[in-house]
Amino acid sequence: MCGIVAYIGKKQALPIIINGLKKLEYRGYDSAGVAVVSESGIAIRKKAGKVADLERLLAVNGFDKTSTVGFGHTRWATHGEPNDLNAHPIYDDDQEIIVIHNGIIENYNSLKIRLEREGYIFRTETDTECLVHLIRSHFKNTDNFETSVRLALNEVEGAYGICVLCKSEPGKIIAARNGSPLVLGVGEKEFILASDATAIIPHTRQVVYLLDGEMVTVTCDNFSIKTIGDEKIERALEEITFDLEQIEKGGYEHFMHKEICEQPESIMNTLRGRIRKDNGLVKLGGLTNVVDKLAFAKRIIITACGTAWHAGLVGEYMIEQMCRIPVEVEYASEFRYRDPIVYPGDSMFVISQSGETADTRAALKEAKKRGADVYGIVNVVGSTIARETDAGIYTHAGPEIGVASTKAFTSQLTGLALISLLIAQHKSLMPPNEIKKITDELLRIPDKIKMILDQSDKIKEIAKVFKFCQHMLYLGRGYNFPVALEGALKLKEISYIHAEGYPAAEMKHGPIALIDANMPVIVIAPKDSTYDKIISNIREVKARKGVVISISDEHNTDIDEYSDYSIKIPSTCKFLSPILTTIPLQLFAYNLAVLRGCNVDQPRNLAKSVTVE
Ligand code: AGP
Ligand code: GLU
Repeated sequence: MCGIVAYIGKKQALPIIINGLKKLEYRGYDSAGVAVVSESGIAIRKKAGKVADLERLLAVNGFDKTSTVGFGHTRWATHGEPNDLNAHPIYDDDQEIIVIHNGIIENYNSLKIRLEREGYIFRTETDTECLVHLIRSHFKNTDNFETSVRLALNEVEGAYGICVLCKSEPGKIIAARNGSPLVLGVGEKEFILASDATAIIPHTRQVVYLLDGEMVTVTCDNFSIKTIGDEKIERALEEITFDLEQIEKGGYEHFMHKEICEQPESIMNTLRGRIRKDNGLVKLGGLTNVVDKLAFAKRIIITACGTAWHAGLVGEYMIEQMCRIPVEVEYASEFRYRDPIVYPGDSMFVISQSGETADTRAALKEAKKRGADVYGIVNVVGSTIARETDAGIYTHAGPEIGVASTKAFTSQLTGLALISLLIAQHKSLMPPNEIKKITDELLRIPDKIKMILDQSDKIKEIAKVFKFCQHMLYLGRGYNFPVALEGALKLKEISYIHAEGYPAAEMKHGPIALIDANMPVIVIAPKDSTYDKIISNIREVKARKGVVISISDEHNTDIDEYSDYSIKIPSTCKFLSPILTTIPLQLFAYNLAVLRGCNVDQPRNLAKSVTVE
């Protein structure tokens, strides 16, 4: 999720590494560190904060600036607070094995237990540290650096992009990837490894892309690639043609578009390590100690702002239907001031991408003061809300740069589904095979999102029709009523078109007066228990010359005769349908904003994290 830069060649490594890390700062991070091979071993400096803070640390106490081998890391914490200790590089006590890592080691708990039994002492809270000791354990047996890394990686489950140094073999860097990108830049007798090409193109445009399950051993003379299954790989050099800005956005025009298209991966990261492979049941380490309290709470309050509040509304449907616990969803900005009634024993979920939203932090504090147990559903590890809750889960969506929240929202929905399933299985409200049916479907969601993303061009064409519209209505029922609100918010905040979301049945209580030939209406209509009702709502709109854009299941064609434009999505179970129905609305809003020349990533008047009232 974050940044890696490694150098081996004839030049001073440190400035190349530091400048490379600065090129990767756009990815969002919380800590930075470097390691270089010096005469007396391997010198390491690291700290929470920005690369500039690391530079100040490097300037203070002498650091080998002549070294020509080393690497650096910017961390986006997933396991362990962002602090100096948990910053990378991570290493063992005698600094024999030094690792920098992007990604999440899913089975680090079981590896840590085993390694501790073998006498390894863990100093940090990171999942990465299990890699250090695992490599060291194999190095003790094989006395071969490359083999040790390869054998260790065969025991690891999860996503990684890593670089490793070994004190006993100082002229070598070993890197490997599985799910987190790594690119090898090939210069004149020098090599630069990085998470993306932005850190490489100042030195060379000749690159080799590592693929998942591959590792590379680099010395100052050469490199060799093999699979972690020990199969040698020959891979041709490629020429980078992208410019810097295009690479930062992964070739997309805007961060928002990149993040919409990252949702298959971000949801996989939210699910990673949280569905048991043997029986499909849910495990959420962050809630293990409180699941009993949660499961038998008299009431669950959910509080948040904006898009996170919409996720909370979906969570209400999930928890009430799967767990049979009354849920109330509160705007944090209202909850904090309305002298709310909170009973001891109430549980509160606080949802926040940034973990810093002022209203949400205040609502959390108010609820705690009144005796509630408070749990976080947060994206940024170590953020204020994460630290102030009694327990919780991280959504692991990765850094979200675009102000309009997209992948964080679908990761919040995924997290809420996991929590609902966890409580339901704890209360034995759903038989294990029923739980497994839903977790099996959760694991299919990333591929189903890819199928929707494949329709991007069609959605773009539909958006063109509405480039000059001034108003838009979004309608949904049940689980998709909150999606109607979220779709309307996306359109408002990036294209500046006025939009409103409503429960579809509410139309007859007033809004239908707005319908005429100039009022486009987006109707979210998956085939669920209220489908026939929503068809009636569509017909009411059509009868008044409204223009209907429908979002419906791919095999459901009867809705097409009532729709002016019809977007088809894969079907899924009702609990998970909001994750899919949201995607076309994100793309629709994005394309309209681009067509209208709006600043998509930094819309007017908005901030990514509203840390003030
Ligand atoms: C959503 O697109 C907006 N960026 C905004 O509503 C956001 O969801 C809200 O400010 C809450 O932010 P948080 O999730 O970081 O707490
Ligand atoms: N999971 C590792 C940690 O939390 C790496 C995070 C990253 O990708 O930066 O330290």
